[in-house]
Amino acid sequence: MQAGGQMAELVNINGTILERAKAFISVFDHGFLFGEGVYETIRTYNRELFLFDRHMSRLRSSAMQIDLTCPYTDKTVLSRIVATMEAGVSTGEAYIRLLLTRGEGDITYDPRACPTPSLIIIVKPHLNVPPKLEENGVMVTLATVMRNHPSSVNPAIKSNNLLNNALAMQQAFKNGAYEALMCNYKGDLVECAQSNFFIVRDGIALTPPLRDGLLEGVTRNFVFEVGSEIGVPVREASLRREDLSTATEAFLTSTTREIVPIVKVDQVTIGSGQPGPVTKALLSGLRKNARALTHP
Ligand code: PDD
Repeated sequence: MQAGGQMAELVNINGTILERAKAFISVFDHGFLFGEGVYETIRTYNRELFLFDRHMSRLRSSAMQIDLTCPYTDKTVLSRIVATMEAGVSTGEAYIRLLLTRGEGDITYDPRACPTPSLIIIVKPHLNVPPKLEENGVMVTLATVMRNHPSSVNPAIKSNNLLNNALAMQQAFKNGAYEALMCNYKGDLVECAQSNFFIVRDGIALTPPLRDGLLEGVTRNFVFEVGSEIGVPVREASLRREDLSTATEAFLTSTTREIVPIVKVDQVTIGSGQPGPVTKALLSGLRKNARALTHP
């Protein structure tokens, strides 16, 4: 346990809980050699894993798309996560990164070289988005790095092979932006490097359809549900750069960031340049529902 009741960073490697400094995997793991692996980022509310079932079902779907099978039941994965969290003796909320890699084998692309996948669980304290960013909104940059073509490493796969995202984020860091907004090969806006993207027009929240080539975010899906509950229409629509100038609001969504208002895309100011009412209503609905679905 760290000072202030914070949870220590612990890692569970194939069932063994280790301190960060002792957490190693083989350099012959194909996750390291070839980026052959899939992952999920999960967080807790009220110290309970939020939408665990949905994350597991996406993990299995991602794994299937790279011809990998998670050899463990959801129950086993959950009990490993909980044991790792409890070993950290935390009082706060947790961030969980769950990785499933091809496992260790010879240097060959042949999956048969790796009989046992590696399941790695990193648990550390969850950090909320700084309130200032929520109040003022953020600037994102339109990356020149294109989102992977669906016939390449399909963005629908939540893959450990994150070079596409890392390259886009390098542009964001250079430009002092919070995120990198990415286009697909057709030039349509699709998603950010680490989150899904929405604009608001005529009171309707719009986000690109999955067929445009993006990750089906768990939070993105949850926003559809929250919207229908609080009376905010949320719909899918292909979005083009020109749509940024007619949007009244924009925001991004992810497990760790919930909903973050976007007030600028490079030089283009979105709407009034302030977080808008639709974004705020969806964020407060999301938090309310997330807390209600987990138990204090
Ligand atoms: N990122 N799109 C991309 C490319 C992402 O990496 C993520 C999540 C999302 C949002 O998905 P979700 O709502 O299920 O978190 C969309 C996580 C948080 C990460 O990389 O750690």
